[in-house]
Amino acid sequence: MEKSIPKRENWGSRIGFIMAAAGSAVGLGNIWRFPYLLGENGGAAFLLIYLVFVVFIGISIMIAEFAVGRNSGSAAVGAYKSKSGKWTFAGVIGVLSAFFIMGFYPVVGGWSLAYIAQTFTGLLSNPEAIGGTFGAFIGSTTAPLIWMIVFLALNVFIVARGIAGGIEKAGKILMPVLFGLLVLIAIRSLTLPGAAAGLSYMFKPDFSAVTGQTYLAALGQAFFSLSLGMGCMITYGSYLNKKEDLATNAVLVTGMDVGVALLAGLAMFPAIFALGMAPDAGPGLVFVVIPSVFAAMGGIGPILSVIFFVALTVAALTSSVSLMEVAVAYFIDEKGIERKKAVYSVASAMGVLSILSSLSLGSMSGVTLFGVGFFDFFDILTDKIFLSIGGLLLSVFVGWFLDKEMLRKELTNGGTVKFALFEAWHFLIKYVIPVAISIVAFYGIKSIEQ
Ligand code: PHE
Repeated sequence: MEKSIPKRENWGSRIGFIMAAAGSAVGLGNIWRFPYLLGENGGAAFLLIYLVFVVFIGISIMIAEFAVGRNSGSAAVGAYKSKSGKWTFAGVIGVLSAFFIMGFYPVVGGWSLAYIAQTFTGLLSNPEAIGGTFGAFIGSTTAPLIWMIVFLALNVFIVARGIAGGIEKAGKILMPVLFGLLVLIAIRSLTLPGAAAGLSYMFKPDFSAVTGQTYLAALGQAFFSLSLGMGCMITYGSYLNKKEDLATNAVLVTGMDVGVALLAGLAMFPAIFALGMAPDAGPGLVFVVIPSVFAAMGGIGPILSVIFFVALTVAALTSSVSLMEVAVAYFIDEKGIERKKAVYSVASAMGVLSILSSLSLGSMSGVTLFGVGFFDFFDILTDKIFLSIGGLLLSVFVGWFLDKEMLRKELTNGGTVKFALFEAWHFLIKYVIPVAISIVAFYGIKSIEQ
Protein backbone atom coordinates (compact mmCIF):
# COMPACT_ATOMS: atom_id res chain seq x y z
CA MET A 1 0.00 0.00 0.00
CA GLU A 2 1.25 3.44 -0.85
CA LYS A 3 1.25 5.90 1.99
CA SER A 4 1.18 9.12 0.01
CA ILE A 5 -2.07 10.99 -0.06
CA PRO A 6 -2.79 12.19 -3.58
CA LYS A 7 -3.39 15.90 -3.99
CA ARG A 8 -6.18 15.12 -6.40
CA GLU A 9 -8.57 12.27 -6.71
CA ASN A 10 -6.86 9.63 -8.83
CA TRP A 11 -8.04 6.95 -11.22
CA GLY A 12 -8.60 3.74 -9.31
CA SER A 13 -6.54 1.70 -11.74
CA ARG A 14 -4.83 1.87 -15.09
CA ILE A 15 -7.54 -0.02 -16.87
CA GLY A 16 -10.01 2.35 -15.24
CA PHE A 17 -8.29 5.34 -16.78
CA ILE A 18 -8.05 3.84 -20.24
CA MET A 19 -11.67 2.80 -20.14
CA ALA A 20 -12.73 6.26 -18.99
CA ALA A 21 -10.61 8.07 -21.60
CA ALA A 22 -11.78 5.67 -24.30
CA GLY A 23 -15.28 6.13 -22.92
CA SER A 24 -14.94 9.85 -23.48
CA ALA A 25 -13.61 9.36 -26.98
CA VAL A 26 -16.01 6.64 -28.09
CA GLY A 27 -19.50 8.05 -28.31
CA LEU A 28 -22.05 9.50 -30.67
CA GLY A 29 -19.06 10.86 -32.58
CA ASN A 30 -18.13 7.36 -33.69
CA ILE A 31 -21.51 5.74 -34.18
CA TRP A 32 -23.85 8.59 -35.08
CA ARG A 33 -21.55 11.22 -36.58
CA PHE A 34 -18.71 9.35 -38.28
CA PRO A 35 -20.90 7.19 -40.56
CA TYR A 36 -23.07 10.07 -41.73
CA LEU A 37 -20.05 12.30 -42.40
CA LEU A 38 -18.44 9.47 -44.32
CA GLY A 39 -21.64 9.11 -46.33
CA GLU A 40 -21.96 12.85 -46.96
CA ASN A 41 -18.32 13.20 -47.98
CA GLY A 42 -18.11 10.42 -50.51
CA GLY A 43 -16.80 7.46 -48.52
CA ALA A 44 -13.26 6.10 -48.79
CA ALA A 45 -11.45 9.37 -49.65
CA PHE A 46 -12.87 10.97 -46.50
CA LEU A 47 -11.89 7.91 -44.48
CA LEU A 48 -8.31 8.09 -45.74
CA ILE A 49 -7.93 11.81 -44.96
CA TYR A 50 -9.52 11.22 -41.58
CA LEU A 51 -7.07 8.42 -40.73
CA VAL A 52 -4.08 10.54 -41.76
CA PHE A 53 -5.28 13.35 -39.46
CA VAL A 54 -5.88 10.92 -36.60
CA VAL A 55 -2.40 9.42 -36.85
CA PHE A 56 -0.37 12.59 -37.43
CA ILE A 57 -2.40 15.17 -35.55
CA GLY A 58 -4.78 13.35 -33.20
CA ILE A 59 -2.34 11.03 -31.41
CA SER A 60 0.24 13.81 -30.97
CA ILE A 61 -2.29 16.20 -29.52
CA MET A 62 -3.67 13.55 -27.20
CA ILE A 63 -0.15 12.88 -25.89
CA ALA A 64 0.31 16.62 -25.44
CA GLU A 65 -2.99 17.02 -23.58
CA PHE A 66 -2.20 14.13 -21.22
CA ALA A 67 1.24 15.63 -20.55
CA VAL A 68 -0.09 19.12 -19.88
CA GLY A 69 -2.82 17.79 -17.61
CA ARG A 70 -0.63 15.51 -15.56
CA ASN A 71 2.20 17.99 -15.32
CA SER A 72 0.04 20.80 -14.03
CA GLY A 73 -2.29 18.58 -12.04
CA SER A 74 -5.18 20.78 -13.00
CA ALA A 75 -8.00 20.93 -15.49
CA ALA A 76 -7.85 22.84 -18.77
CA VAL A 77 -8.00 26.45 -17.60
CA GLY A 78 -5.75 25.91 -14.61
CA ALA A 79 -3.22 24.05 -16.73
CA TYR A 80 -2.87 26.94 -19.17
CA LYS A 81 -2.97 29.53 -16.41
CA SER A 82 -0.22 27.81 -14.42
CA LYS A 83 2.16 28.82 -17.21
CA SER A 84 0.92 32.35 -17.70
CA GLY A 85 -2.28 34.29 -17.16
CA LYS A 86 -2.13 35.28 -20.82
CA TRP A 87 -3.03 31.71 -21.75
CA THR A 88 -6.19 31.55 -19.63
CA PHE A 89 -8.30 32.33 -22.70
CA ALA A 90 -7.18 29.10 -24.40
CA GLY A 91 -8.60 27.08 -21.52
CA VAL A 92 -11.76 29.16 -21.46
CA ILE A 93 -12.34 28.45 -25.16
CA GLY A 94 -12.23 24.78 -24.21
CA VAL A 95 -14.83 25.26 -21.47
CA LEU A 96 -17.04 27.12 -23.94
CA SER A 97 -16.64 24.26 -26.42
CA ALA A 98 -17.89 21.90 -23.73
CA PHE A 99 -20.98 24.06 -23.21
CA PHE A 100 -21.76 24.31 -26.90
CA ILE A 101 -21.17 20.63 -27.66
CA MET A 102 -23.49 19.92 -24.74
CA GLY A 103 -25.92 22.24 -26.50
CA PHE A 104 -26.73 19.49 -29.01
CA TYR A 105 -25.16 16.25 -27.75
CA PRO A 106 -27.92 15.55 -25.17
CA VAL A 107 -30.51 15.95 -27.91
CA VAL A 108 -29.01 13.06 -29.87
CA GLY A 109 -28.48 11.14 -26.62
CA GLY A 110 -32.21 11.62 -26.02
CA TRP A 111 -33.06 10.22 -29.48
CA SER A 112 -31.06 7.15 -28.62
CA LEU A 113 -32.91 6.72 -25.32
CA ALA A 114 -36.22 7.21 -27.11
CA TYR A 115 -35.34 4.48 -29.60
CA ILE A 116 -34.90 1.98 -26.78
CA ALA A 117 -38.52 2.62 -25.86
CA GLN A 118 -39.73 2.82 -29.46
CA THR A 119 -38.46 -0.67 -30.20
CA PHE A 120 -41.18 -1.87 -27.84
CA THR A 121 -43.85 0.25 -29.48
CA GLY A 122 -43.51 -1.03 -33.02
CA LEU A 123 -40.49 0.78 -34.46
CA LEU A 124 -39.45 -2.30 -36.43
CA SER A 125 -42.88 -3.57 -37.44
CA ASN A 126 -43.13 -1.48 -40.61
CA PRO A 127 -39.69 -1.23 -42.27
CA GLU A 128 -40.88 1.19 -44.96
CA ALA A 129 -41.96 3.68 -42.32
CA ILE A 130 -38.68 3.76 -40.32
CA GLY A 131 -37.30 6.81 -42.15
CA GLY A 132 -40.53 8.77 -41.80
CA THR A 133 -40.85 7.83 -38.14
CA PHE A 134 -37.45 9.30 -37.37
CA GLY A 135 -38.18 12.56 -39.20
CA ALA A 136 -41.53 12.95 -37.46
CA PHE A 137 -40.04 12.15 -34.06
CA ILE A 138 -37.14 14.63 -34.09
CA GLY A 139 -39.39 17.33 -35.54
CA SER A 140 -42.00 16.99 -32.81
CA THR A 141 -41.94 19.21 -29.74
CA THR A 142 -42.44 17.46 -26.41
CA ALA A 143 -41.19 13.88 -26.79
CA PRO A 144 -37.60 14.70 -27.84
CA LEU A 145 -37.41 17.33 -25.09
CA ILE A 146 -38.45 14.87 -22.43
CA TRP A 147 -35.90 12.28 -23.58
CA MET A 148 -33.18 14.94 -23.76
CA ILE A 149 -33.91 15.93 -20.17
CA VAL A 150 -33.79 12.30 -19.03
CA PHE A 151 -30.40 11.96 -20.74
CA LEU A 152 -29.10 15.12 -19.09
CA ALA A 153 -30.38 13.95 -15.71
CA LEU A 154 -28.36 10.74 -16.07
CA ASN A 155 -25.28 12.89 -16.63
CA VAL A 156 -25.98 14.90 -13.53
CA PHE A 157 -26.31 11.72 -11.51
CA ILE A 158 -22.93 10.38 -12.69
CA VAL A 159 -20.91 13.60 -12.58
CA ALA A 160 -22.22 14.64 -9.19
CA ARG A 161 -20.73 11.47 -7.69
CA GLY A 162 -17.19 12.47 -8.73
CA ILE A 163 -14.54 11.10 -10.96
CA ALA A 164 -13.52 7.68 -9.64
CA GLY A 165 -16.91 6.71 -8.26
CA GLY A 166 -19.05 7.63 -11.22
CA ILE A 167 -17.33 7.85 -14.55
CA GLU A 168 -14.91 5.01 -14.06
CA LYS A 169 -17.52 2.44 -13.08
CA ALA A 170 -19.82 3.33 -15.93
CA GLY A 171 -17.03 3.02 -18.48
CA LYS A 172 -15.62 -0.25 -17.22
CA ILE A 173 -18.85 -2.18 -17.47
CA LEU A 174 -20.45 -0.73 -20.52
CA MET A 175 -17.76 -0.19 -23.15
CA PRO A 176 -17.10 -3.88 -23.82
CA VAL A 177 -20.83 -4.47 -24.26
CA LEU A 178 -20.95 -1.88 -27.01
CA PHE A 179 -17.95 -3.30 -28.77
CA GLY A 180 -19.30 -6.84 -28.83
CA LEU A 181 -22.63 -5.67 -30.12
CA LEU A 182 -21.12 -3.72 -32.99
CA VAL A 183 -19.14 -6.78 -34.05
CA LEU A 184 -22.38 -8.75 -34.13
CA ILE A 185 -24.22 -6.16 -36.23
CA ALA A 186 -21.26 -5.83 -38.60
CA ILE A 187 -21.27 -9.59 -39.19
CA ARG A 188 -24.99 -9.49 -39.96
CA SER A 189 -24.62 -6.49 -42.23
CA LEU A 190 -21.66 -7.98 -44.13
CA THR A 191 -23.53 -11.18 -44.83
CA LEU A 192 -26.54 -9.47 -46.45
CA PRO A 193 -26.75 -10.01 -50.22
CA GLY A 194 -25.24 -7.01 -52.01
CA ALA A 195 -23.07 -5.99 -49.04
CA ALA A 196 -19.89 -5.80 -51.15
CA ALA A 197 -20.90 -2.45 -52.68
CA GLY A 198 -20.82 -0.93 -49.19
CA LEU A 199 -17.31 -2.23 -48.65
CA SER A 200 -16.00 -0.72 -51.83
CA TYR A 201 -17.75 2.55 -50.94
CA MET A 202 -15.84 2.57 -47.65
CA PHE A 203 -12.47 1.43 -48.89
CA LYS A 204 -12.03 2.39 -52.58
CA PRO A 205 -11.13 6.07 -52.57
CA ASP A 206 -12.38 8.48 -55.20
CA PHE A 207 -10.74 11.87 -54.79
CA SER A 208 -12.70 13.61 -57.53
CA ALA A 209 -15.23 15.12 -55.13
CA VAL A 210 -12.77 16.12 -52.39
CA THR A 211 -12.75 19.85 -51.52
CA GLY A 212 -11.38 22.06 -48.77
CA GLN A 213 -14.55 21.29 -46.86
CA THR A 214 -13.82 17.57 -46.93
CA TYR A 215 -10.50 18.21 -45.18
CA LEU A 216 -12.08 20.52 -42.61
CA ALA A 217 -14.84 18.00 -41.92
CA ALA A 218 -12.25 15.25 -41.47
CA LEU A 219 -10.10 17.37 -39.15
CA GLY A 220 -13.09 18.49 -37.11
CA GLN A 221 -14.27 14.90 -36.83
CA ALA A 222 -10.80 13.77 -35.71
CA PHE A 223 -10.85 16.31 -32.87
CA PHE A 224 -14.47 15.67 -31.99
CA SER A 225 -14.19 11.91 -31.97
CA LEU A 226 -10.94 11.82 -29.97
CA SER A 227 -12.29 14.41 -27.48
CA LEU A 228 -9.42 16.78 -28.30
CA GLY A 229 -8.98 20.52 -28.64
CA MET A 230 -11.12 21.50 -25.66
CA GLY A 231 -9.28 20.40 -22.58
CA CYS A 232 -11.10 17.16 -21.92
CA MET A 233 -8.00 15.00 -22.15
CA ILE A 234 -6.08 17.66 -20.18
CA THR A 235 -8.63 17.28 -17.41
CA TYR A 236 -8.48 13.47 -17.56
CA GLY A 237 -4.66 13.60 -17.64
CA SER A 238 -4.69 15.69 -14.49
CA TYR A 239 -6.19 12.77 -12.60
CA LEU A 240 -3.58 10.38 -14.01
CA ASN A 241 -0.96 8.86 -11.82
CA LYS A 242 2.75 9.63 -12.25
CA LYS A 243 3.69 6.09 -13.21
CA GLU A 244 1.56 5.85 -16.34
CA ASP A 245 3.16 5.84 -19.76
CA LEU A 246 1.32 8.67 -21.52
CA ALA A 247 2.22 7.91 -25.13
CA THR A 248 1.16 4.28 -24.87
CA ASN A 249 -2.12 5.32 -23.26
CA ALA A 250 -2.77 7.82 -26.06
CA VAL A 251 -2.12 5.21 -28.75
CA LEU A 252 -4.41 2.70 -27.03
CA VAL A 253 -7.25 5.19 -26.62
CA THR A 254 -6.93 6.39 -30.22
CA GLY A 255 -6.82 2.81 -31.48
CA MET A 256 -10.03 1.94 -29.67
CA ASP A 257 -11.74 5.08 -30.93
CA VAL A 258 -10.82 4.46 -34.56
CA GLY A 259 -11.67 0.78 -34.16
CA VAL A 260 -15.20 1.58 -33.01
CA ALA A 261 -15.74 4.14 -35.80
CA LEU A 262 -14.62 1.61 -38.42
CA LEU A 263 -16.82 -1.04 -36.87
CA ALA A 264 -19.78 1.34 -36.95
CA GLY A 265 -19.03 1.92 -40.64
CA LEU A 266 -18.82 -1.81 -41.27
CA ALA A 267 -22.10 -2.30 -39.45
CA MET A 268 -23.85 0.31 -41.56
CA PHE A 269 -22.47 0.73 -45.09
CA PRO A 270 -22.82 -2.85 -46.31
CA ALA A 271 -26.42 -2.72 -45.10
CA ILE A 272 -27.04 0.70 -46.65
CA PHE A 273 -26.08 -0.64 -50.07
CA ALA A 274 -27.69 -4.05 -49.59
CA LEU A 275 -31.01 -2.44 -48.62
CA GLY A 276 -30.81 0.18 -51.38
CA MET A 277 -30.64 3.20 -49.06
CA ALA A 278 -28.84 6.52 -49.60
CA PRO A 279 -25.42 6.86 -47.89
CA ASP A 280 -25.72 10.66 -47.77
CA ALA A 281 -28.94 10.79 -45.78
CA GLY A 282 -27.33 12.95 -43.06
CA PRO A 283 -27.74 12.91 -39.25
CA GLY A 284 -30.62 10.44 -39.32
CA LEU A 285 -28.47 7.69 -40.83
CA VAL A 286 -27.83 5.49 -37.79
CA PHE A 287 -31.43 5.88 -36.56
CA VAL A 288 -32.79 4.68 -39.90
CA VAL A 289 -30.22 2.15 -41.11
CA ILE A 290 -29.73 0.15 -37.94
CA PRO A 291 -33.46 -0.33 -37.22
CA SER A 292 -33.90 -1.34 -40.87
CA VAL A 293 -31.22 -4.02 -40.49
CA PHE A 294 -32.95 -5.27 -37.34
CA ALA A 295 -36.35 -5.22 -39.02
CA ALA A 296 -34.96 -7.31 -41.89
CA MET A 297 -33.76 -9.90 -39.36
CA GLY A 298 -37.19 -10.63 -37.90
CA GLY A 299 -37.04 -12.93 -34.82
CA ILE A 300 -34.21 -11.63 -32.63
CA GLY A 301 -34.19 -8.24 -34.38
CA PRO A 302 -36.17 -6.40 -31.69
CA ILE A 303 -34.04 -7.79 -28.86
CA LEU A 304 -30.83 -6.74 -30.61
CA SER A 305 -32.35 -3.35 -31.35
CA VAL A 306 -33.00 -2.75 -27.67
CA ILE A 307 -29.48 -3.82 -26.75
CA PHE A 308 -28.03 -1.63 -29.51
CA PHE A 309 -29.77 1.54 -28.39
CA VAL A 310 -28.95 0.83 -24.76
CA ALA A 311 -25.29 0.49 -25.74
CA LEU A 312 -25.42 3.62 -27.91
CA THR A 313 -26.95 5.56 -25.04
CA VAL A 314 -24.23 4.33 -22.72
CA ALA A 315 -21.50 5.28 -25.20
CA ALA A 316 -23.08 8.70 -25.47
CA LEU A 317 -23.21 8.98 -21.67
CA THR A 318 -19.57 8.11 -21.06
CA SER A 319 -18.71 10.90 -23.53
CA SER A 320 -21.16 13.50 -22.31
CA VAL A 321 -20.07 13.07 -18.70
CA SER A 322 -16.55 13.97 -19.80
CA LEU A 323 -17.85 17.08 -21.51
CA MET A 324 -19.79 18.04 -18.43
CA GLU A 325 -16.74 17.31 -16.28
CA VAL A 326 -14.67 19.89 -18.21
CA ALA A 327 -17.15 22.62 -17.34
CA VAL A 328 -17.70 21.36 -13.78
CA ALA A 329 -13.94 21.07 -13.09
CA TYR A 330 -13.57 24.67 -14.20
CA PHE A 331 -16.08 25.91 -11.64
CA ILE A 332 -14.65 23.71 -8.89
CA ASP A 333 -10.97 24.50 -9.52
CA GLU A 334 -11.17 28.11 -10.63
CA LYS A 335 -14.23 29.44 -8.83
CA GLY A 336 -14.13 27.30 -5.70
CA ILE A 337 -17.71 26.13 -6.16
CA GLU A 338 -18.71 22.88 -4.51
CA ARG A 339 -19.11 19.91 -6.93
CA LYS A 340 -22.84 19.33 -6.58
CA LYS A 341 -23.67 23.00 -7.02
CA ALA A 342 -21.36 23.25 -10.01
CA VAL A 343 -23.00 20.21 -11.60
CA TYR A 344 -26.52 21.58 -11.19
CA SER A 345 -25.72 25.01 -12.63
CA VAL A 346 -23.67 23.69 -15.53
CA ALA A 347 -26.33 21.13 -16.42
CA SER A 348 -29.07 23.74 -16.35
CA ALA A 349 -27.22 25.97 -18.80
CA MET A 350 -26.58 23.00 -21.08
CA GLY A 351 -30.24 22.07 -20.82
CA VAL A 352 -31.32 25.48 -22.07
CA LEU A 353 -29.04 25.26 -25.12
CA SER A 354 -30.26 21.73 -25.81
CA ILE A 355 -33.90 22.84 -25.68
CA LEU A 356 -33.13 25.41 -28.38
CA SER A 357 -31.33 22.75 -30.45
CA SER A 358 -34.11 20.25 -30.20
CA LEU A 359 -36.81 22.78 -31.09
CA SER A 360 -34.75 24.02 -34.04
CA LEU A 361 -35.49 20.72 -35.79
CA GLY A 362 -39.23 21.33 -35.58
CA SER A 363 -41.32 24.18 -34.28
CA MET A 364 -38.42 26.65 -34.19
CA SER A 365 -36.93 25.73 -37.57
CA GLY A 366 -37.57 29.26 -38.79
CA VAL A 367 -35.15 30.76 -36.25
CA THR A 368 -31.64 30.81 -37.72
CA LEU A 369 -28.18 32.08 -36.80
CA PHE A 370 -25.87 32.67 -39.78
CA GLY A 371 -28.35 30.80 -41.93
CA VAL A 372 -28.65 27.61 -39.84
CA GLY A 373 -30.81 26.48 -36.93
CA PHE A 374 -29.47 26.19 -33.37
CA PHE A 375 -28.65 22.47 -33.64
CA ASP A 376 -26.46 22.94 -36.72
CA PHE A 377 -25.06 26.18 -35.36
CA PHE A 378 -23.72 24.59 -32.15
CA ASP A 379 -22.44 21.62 -34.15
CA ILE A 380 -20.59 23.67 -36.77
CA LEU A 381 -19.32 26.21 -34.24
CA THR A 382 -17.66 23.57 -32.07
CA ASP A 383 -16.55 20.94 -34.50
CA LYS A 384 -15.44 23.10 -37.41
CA ILE A 385 -14.17 26.13 -35.49
CA PHE A 386 -13.64 25.88 -31.72
CA LEU A 387 -11.99 22.46 -31.60
CA SER A 388 -9.57 23.27 -34.43
CA ILE A 389 -8.65 26.55 -32.77
CA GLY A 390 -8.32 24.73 -29.44
CA GLY A 391 -5.99 22.17 -31.04
CA LEU A 392 -3.97 24.89 -32.69
CA LEU A 393 -3.59 26.82 -29.44
CA LEU A 394 -2.62 23.70 -27.55
CA SER A 395 0.10 22.75 -30.02
CA VAL A 396 1.51 26.28 -30.05
CA PHE A 397 1.40 26.36 -26.24
CA VAL A 398 3.16 23.01 -25.86
CA GLY A 399 5.59 23.44 -28.78
CA TRP A 400 6.66 27.02 -28.18
CA PHE A 401 5.92 27.91 -24.58
CA LEU A 402 6.58 24.79 -22.54
CA ASP A 403 10.10 23.68 -21.75
CA LYS A 404 11.16 20.82 -23.99
CA GLU A 405 13.14 19.07 -21.25
CA MET A 406 10.19 19.27 -18.90
CA LEU A 407 8.07 17.61 -21.59
CA ARG A 408 10.71 14.94 -22.14
CA LYS A 409 10.69 14.20 -18.42
CA GLU A 410 6.90 14.09 -18.29
CA LEU A 411 6.63 11.76 -21.26
CA THR A 412 9.35 9.40 -20.10
CA ASN A 413 8.32 9.58 -16.44
CA GLY A 414 11.70 11.06 -15.53
CA GLY A 415 13.58 8.67 -17.81
CA THR A 416 12.01 5.45 -16.51
CA VAL A 417 9.93 4.65 -19.61
CA LYS A 418 10.98 4.84 -23.24
CA PHE A 419 9.46 7.27 -25.71
CA ALA A 420 11.62 6.71 -28.77
CA LEU A 421 9.59 9.08 -30.91
CA PHE A 422 9.90 12.04 -28.55
CA GLU A 423 11.84 14.21 -31.03
CA ALA A 424 9.45 13.39 -33.87
CA TRP A 425 6.47 14.13 -31.61
CA HIS A 426 7.94 17.46 -30.54
CA PHE A 427 8.64 18.45 -34.15
CA LEU A 428 5.08 17.60 -35.15
CA ILE A 429 3.61 19.56 -32.26
CA LYS A 430 5.86 22.57 -32.72
CA TYR A 431 5.88 23.00 -36.50
CA VAL A 432 3.80 20.58 -38.53
CA ILE A 433 0.51 20.55 -36.62
CA PRO A 434 0.04 24.32 -36.19
CA VAL A 435 0.73 24.84 -39.89
CA ALA A 436 -1.47 21.92 -40.97
CA ILE A 437 -4.42 23.05 -38.84
CA SER A 438 -4.09 26.63 -40.10
CA ILE A 439 -4.09 25.53 -43.74
CA VAL A 440 -7.03 23.16 -43.34
CA ALA A 441 -9.03 25.74 -41.38
CA PHE A 442 -8.28 28.49 -43.89
CA TYR A 443 -9.25 26.55 -47.00
CA GLY A 444 -12.11 24.79 -45.26
CA ILE A 445 -13.75 27.98 -44.05
CA LYS A 446 -13.11 29.60 -47.41
CA SER A 447 -14.91 26.83 -49.22
CA ILE A 448 -17.87 26.98 -46.81
CA GLU A 449 -18.32 30.63 -47.82
CA GLN A 450 -18.51 29.78 -51.52
N1 PHE B 1 -15.57 12.16 -28.42
C1 PHE B 1 -16.95 12.21 -28.10
C2 PHE B 1 -17.73 11.42 -29.14
O1 PHE B 1 -17.17 10.98 -30.09
C3 PHE B 1 -17.47 13.61 -28.00
C4 PHE B 1 -16.61 14.51 -27.18
C5 PHE B 1 -15.99 15.59 -27.77
C6 PHE B 1 -16.37 14.24 -25.84
C7 PHE B 1 -15.14 16.42 -27.04
C8 PHE B 1 -15.53 15.05 -25.11
C9 PHE B 1 -14.93 16.14 -25.71
O2 PHE B 1 -18.90 11.25 -29.03
